[in-house]
Amino acid sequence: MRLSPALYVLVAAGSLTQAAAVDKRDLASEIWADIESAASCTACEALLVVLKGLAAFGNTIFVDTITEVCKLSGADDPDVCEGAVALEGPILAQDLRGMTVGSHTSTLFCNTFFGLCPFPAVTPYSVTFPSPKPATTRPAVSGQPPLTFVHISDIHVDQFYETGASYNCTKPICCRPYTAADAPGNNGYPAGPYGNTACDAPVSLEDSMFAAINSIAPNAAFTIFTGDIVDHAVWLVNETQVTADIQDAYSHMASLPHVYTTAGNHEASPVNAFNPAAVKTSLDIQWLYNLLATDNQPYLGSDAQEIQNFGAYSTKFAGGNLRIISINSNLYYKENYWLYEKTMESDPSGQLAWLVSELDAAEQAGENVYIIGHMAMGLDDALHDGSNYFNQIVDRYSATIAALFFGHTHVDQFEIAYTDYTNPSFSNALEVSYLAPSMTPTSGPPAFQVVSVDPVTFGVLDITTYIANISDPSYQNGPTWVEYYSAKQAYGPLVDPPLTDPTAELTPAFWHNVTVAFENDDTAFQSYIAHKSRGWNVPSCTGDCKTSEICGMRAAEAQYNCATVTPGINFRKRDEGLERLPGVVEERVCDGARLRPLLSKLAARDGLLEEMLEKVQVKYRE
Ligand SMILES: *[C@@H]1O[C@H](CO)[C@@H](O)[C@H](O)[C@H]1NC(C)=O
Ligand SMILES: *[C@@H]1O[C@H](CO)[C@@H](O)[C@H](O)[C@H]1NC(C)=O
Ligand SMILES: *[C@@H]1O[C@H](CO)[C@@H](O)[C@H](O)[C@H]1NC(C)=O
Ligand SMILES: *[C@@H]1O[C@H](CO)[C@@H](O)[C@H](O)[C@H]1NC(C)=O
Repeated sequence: MRLSPALYVLVAAGSLTQAAAVDKRDLASEIWADIESAASCTACEALLVVLKGLAAFGNTIFVDTITEVCKLSGADDPDVCEGAVALEGPILAQDLRGMTVGSHTSTLFCNTFFGLCPFPAVTPYSVTFPSPKPATTRPAVSGQPPLTFVHISDIHVDQFYETGASYNCTKPICCRPYTAADAPGNNGYPAGPYGNTACDAPVSLEDSMFAAINSIAPNAAFTIFTGDIVDHAVWLVNETQVTADIQDAYSHMASLPHVYTTAGNHEASPVNAFNPAAVKTSLDIQWLYNLLATDNQPYLGSDAQEIQNFGAYSTKFAGGNLRIISINSNLYYKENYWLYEKTMESDPSGQLAWLVSELDAAEQAGENVYIIGHMAMGLDDALHDGSNYFNQIVDRYSATIAALFFGHTHVDQFEIAYTDYTNPSFSNALEVSYLAPSMTPTSGPPAFQVVSVDPVTFGVLDITTYIANISDPSYQNGPTWVEYYSAKQAYGPLVDPPLTDPTAELTPAFWHNVTVAFENDDTAFQSYIAHKSRGWNVPSCTGDCKTSEICGMRAAEAQYNCATVTPGINFRKRDEGLERLPGVVEERVCDGARLRPLLSKLAARDGLLEEMLEKVQVKYRE
């Protein structure tokens, strides 16, 4: 996951256009003051009027103008500006043209793009169920010898990674010969053969990790891959490259135990752009669904055809009473700009209705279900409405769903679902979503997890995380994969009574009790924080950070995750999803810090606005 450069650009555009009405000299500070004042949702809506005006001129003028702003602001390298705005600008322009200022959609837009409006309240919508919730609950574990599977996520393989290319560049990811000076032999920061924390994963790392999985977990029954294959050079993505990346990843995954996959936000081109069925566009994402249907044929047989509908599928595991339902979480993702429709749909592409029918059939068949997806639905990346509707379904089928598995944030974490989020306790904890750490080393050592489960109920017994320590100098001789920690060993002793029996389940109540232990035992909490990024660049997390972190664990529904909207940057409430890319590390650690560097650049460049407008005018004079 990476924030799209276009977002920063839009922020710049907003600053500039609004400045037309104020003294241009003090532009940046005025806008910053505006943005910082709590009552600026109205100001944002005024800004939208201006942006709508620009969008009304058509995509070309919109894209050219915003690109110019991006370049002049120095928000990103010129080629990144050109690529990213050209790809994402037309979708934003279409959103803006259809937008009614003052509507739910425009409020949400101001929230997502500028952090200037609070999240609008969830639009009430009751998901329809064919039958009432049964009185049954999750079955107790059988105690039979466990079955294991592997969970991998966010592989982000960079086909253009070059050993010896500079790992110190000004782009979102490095280790590519972007310029002659970056090329192997010409720079003072040569990347090693197995990856760098400033870069996405080389193929050599993928090969190493997949070989390690086979040697460490030779008896694994299957693999869950929770998405994101494509690298973070989002300004360069195109359908041809994404297709090649996906084909390559699937051919590598053929070496793993039977794989169940799901589509990440990076599998789209432009990135994140999954249009729901109701949005007709020449940028239709159908090509991806067709590709995934074909590529998943070996794993799913005829069940793979369903992927063509909206990227989701439901299939039965051959080795036990387990159904795997893979959802397309991108249809609820804040950064999917296709979702900002004039009237936002309650059920984009009808995926939720389909999920209900699949779960209802599973309930009637007495099956256990794993829901897998890319973005966990409690993250602040999830639209509150979609997350609420999804959670109604999780609640209704909580006796059938054994667990949920996601990725996206690149860090190792979990989210608990409750029947009552306003009063979370061990007694109303319903389900656990497990988020796997990434293979790409941009957020810490590359990692995978081995999950041990009850072979009858499919309740989770333990999760063991394996890493290759990229900070260790010997790593570049060939990664050594070692056990990092076991969830049961690390957290089982924290609860009362201690949960240490190998056959005991890590239930939702257990995880709730772990969050209580974190509140009371700071050493335990800090060890969790270290586990998130596999001991790499471990942030200090105390006070509000700790409160908000624990709140996030207790929120599988996004509106309860305590994420606050900070003017100018509402995207990252904590370090989850933090990518620690070169040059932006400090800027991303704290809320609110991402916009400041851009605004200060604007402030430092006297006449920037005039320069930009002039260029655009010259271009369109005739
Ligand atoms: C990257 O290069 C710049 C000089 O071009 C230097 O100041 C900086 O410390 C380098 N960063 C890293 C991570 O080595
Ligand atoms: C697609 O992207 C690849 C890799 O960046 C590039 O080599 C290729 O020329 C691009 N194709 C088109 C049609 O733009
Ligand atoms: C990784 O290696 C570095 C450098 O040797 C070390 O400081 C760090 O503790 C190691 N991390 C883990 C998780 O072992
Ligand atoms: C959770 O804690 C409560 C007490 O607060 C206790 O009664 C219950 O047994 C615990 N459950 C687990 C699974 O740890």
